Amino acid sequence: MKRARIVGTGRSVPPKVLTNADLAKMVATSDEWIAERTGIRQRHILDPSLAASDLAADAGKKACAAAGVAAGDVDCIIVGTVTGDCPFPSTATFVQKKLGARAGGCAFDLSAACAGFLYGISIADAFIRTGQFKNVLVVGVEVLSRIVDWTDRSTCVLFGDGAGAVLMTADDSGRRGLLSTHLFADGALTEVLLQPAGGSREPISAEAIAAKRHLVHMNGREVYKHAVRNMTASAKTALDANGLTAGDVAWVIGHQANLRILEGVSDRVGIGMDRFFINVDRYGNTSSASLPTALDEAIEQGKIHDGDILLFTALGGGLAWASAAVRW
Ligand code: ACO
Repeated sequence: MKRARIVGTGRSVPPKVLTNADLAKMVATSDEWIAERTGIRQRHILDPSLAASDLAADAGKKACAAAGVAAGDVDCIIVGTVTGDCPFPSTATFVQKKLGARAGGCAFDLSAACAGFLYGISIADAFIRTGQFKNVLVVGVEVLSRIVDWTDRSTCVLFGDGAGAVLMTADDSGRRGLLSTHLFADGALTEVLLQPAGGSREPISAEAIAAKRHLVHMNGREVYKHAVRNMTASAKTALDANGLTAGDVAWVIGHQANLRILEGVSDRVGIGMDRFFINVDRYGNTSSASLPTALDEAIEQGKIHDGDILLFTALGGGLAWASAAVRW
């Protein structure tokens, strides 16, 4: 049985660090409040001279190198992002050019906010299993610092910039690779977390900018509630679909939005926090970049071994959420 397998990972994180102490000089907040409510200690911020595709191409290059796949052999580039270089063309096409990937291969973006990476690997899986594409690069990248209201303490402390990438290809042994993906969305909850202006519904205007409607708007409590509930439910769906139990899971790679959300999921799924990989303290919430960045770090730290079962779960704007199970 042919499965899609992750054969290389990479990440790119901008060097500039913004600590909680730095934020306390900008808005009425404190390291204690942020750390206690979110687990975040610092986040990385991209230099204004660079864009999402710069981070994405750097992460993509590293994933290709780790996989031993030449950029010229990448058939398809999928970029999950809500902060791409521009509304069109896709950030993926900028990445294709920067990587030197195959002209005529396909490249496109997808918008599923913090679930973007899992939506991306699910699409890659379908392409690979049907034989349409052989080598698929899936990138999650965000430059959320560009759409955050730096005067709103309830949102600006949460987010960071970064990119993570995986190179996926076919594994004909059928033993290793992506076991399942489950994708969900509930459009009744679009208002809970959104960037209202800047699209066709509310084009950018002086009025929109004055009202800060081109920036992130969020009902934090609602997001929190749905995140715990739906990340838990989708994680359980992944386990059930594969006949797995909580005890089979080596690592949960959960969306790094907030440590308390992950603790809530840990309680409800019955997998201890010692098996949740955590890097939200150093990166903040990097939305679609969160999972591939965490995966890449976990591999770098030698935490993941051949045959390990990995359980991924994420939720974000849409609301959109998803899970995946992988045998490494
Ligand atoms: N520093 C100090 N005080 C703050 C801050 C801050 N940064 N932000 C809010 N407060 C204040 C509020 O003004 C409020 O004060 P008041 O009682 O005087 O009105 C008080 O703290 C409590 O505010 P709440 O919003 O009720 O705080 P809560 O405990 O819900 O925590 C938080 C807020 C951290 C945003 C939480 O709701 C949360 O984590 N939600 C999930 C949001 C999230 O992760 N979004 C990311 C995108 S979606 C995703 O990735 C899943």
